Amino acid sequence: MAISKADFDYIVQLAQSQAAIVLEPGKEYLVENRLGPLAELEGFATLGKFIGKLRSETVINGLHHRSIDALTTNETSFFRDFHPFEALRKQILPQLIAQRAATRQLNIWCAACSTGQEPYSLAMLMHEHFPELKDWKVTILATDLSAKVLKVAVAGHYSQFEVNRGLPAAYLIKYFTKHADRWHLKPAIKKAIQFQALNLIQPWPMFPPLDLVFIRNVMIYFDVPTKKTILKRIRTCLLPHGYLFLGTAETTMNLDPEYRAVTVDRAVVYQLQPSESAGTPAGASVCEPL
Ligand SMILES: C[S@@+](CC[C@H](N)C(=O)[O-])C[C@H]1O[C@@H](n2cnc3c(N)ncnc32)[C@H](O)[C@@H]1O
Repeated sequence: MAISKADFDYIVQLAQSQAAIVLEPGKEYLVENRLGPLAELEGFATLGKFIGKLRSETVINGLHHRSIDALTTNETSFFRDFHPFEALRKQILPQLIAQRAATRQLNIWCAACSTGQEPYSLAMLMHEHFPELKDWKVTILATDLSAKVLKVAVAGHYSQFEVNRGLPAAYLIKYFTKHADRWHLKPAIKKAIQFQALNLIQPWPMFPPLDLVFIRNVMIYFDVPTKKTILKRIRTCLLPHGYLFLGTAETTMNLDPEYRAVTVDRAVVYQLQPSESAGTPAGASVCEPL
C-alpha cells in the first residue's frame, strides 16, 4: 500500500494539527506501516481509499482519532533508563518526603505514559522502598493521548517479553500474578494510578501543585514552539522543590531558561530556577491552590 504525496502531506498535517506530532519527509514508510493495518481493519481495500475517506470528512471524527492513535510511537519499558529511578530512590523521594512531612501529600503526573510501565514502575518503587507513604495522600495521574495504550495500561496485563524488559525478577514475583501467558499487576499497585486521556496540546485538567512530572520521550516528536509551550505550562504546576523528568535525548536547554538541569545520582533532571520557583505556584493557570 504505497502512499501518494498528497495523501502523505494530508497525514503530516493531520498529525501535526491534532497531536503536535511532526512527521518529517521520508517517514512515508512509517505512515504506510501504521495506517495500512488500520485501513484494512476499517474495511478499506487500499490505504489510498482510507486516506481519501479521511480527507473527504469535513469535521475531525473517530476515524481521524484512530488514525492519530495508530501513528503514535508507544515504545516504553519498566524502569526505562534505570538511572532516573535510582535518583528517585536514593535522593529525590527521601528529600521530597522530608519536605512534604507537614502535609503528607505527594502529587505526581506521568504525561504520555503509554502502556503504563512508567507509572507502574514508580508505584512499585514507592511501595518497595518507602512504606511510610502508605499513610500519605499520594496521587499518581498517568495520561496519554492514545486510547489504545491507555486500555493496556488500565488492564495492567503484560507479556513475558514486556516484563523481561527492565523489571527486576523480585518485583515480578512480588507484584504480578501469572494468568496463562500474561502477567497481571496486583491490585495494590494498580490502584495507585489514575489513568486519564489527555492530549498535551489541548486544555489540561486542573492539576494539584506537582512534586514530580514525568514527560519522557514524547516531546521528541514535537516542534520547538510546541515544546516551549508545554514546558511553560508545566512551570505553572511544578512546585519550587519539584522535579521534571525528561527522556535522555530531551532537554529544556534552548527551550526554557526558567528550568535548570540538576544531576542527581547519575540522572539529569530539571528544577525551576530559584527566581521562577519563588513565585510558584502563584499565577498558576492550571494548578489548584495548595
Ligand atoms: C515513546 S512513548 C513514551 C512512553 C513513556 N513516557 C516512556 O518514556 O517510556 C510516547 C507516548 O506519547 C504519546 N503521545 C504522543 N503525542 C501525544 C500528545 N500530543 N499528547 C499526549 N500524548 C502523546 C503516545 O501516545 C505515546 O504513548
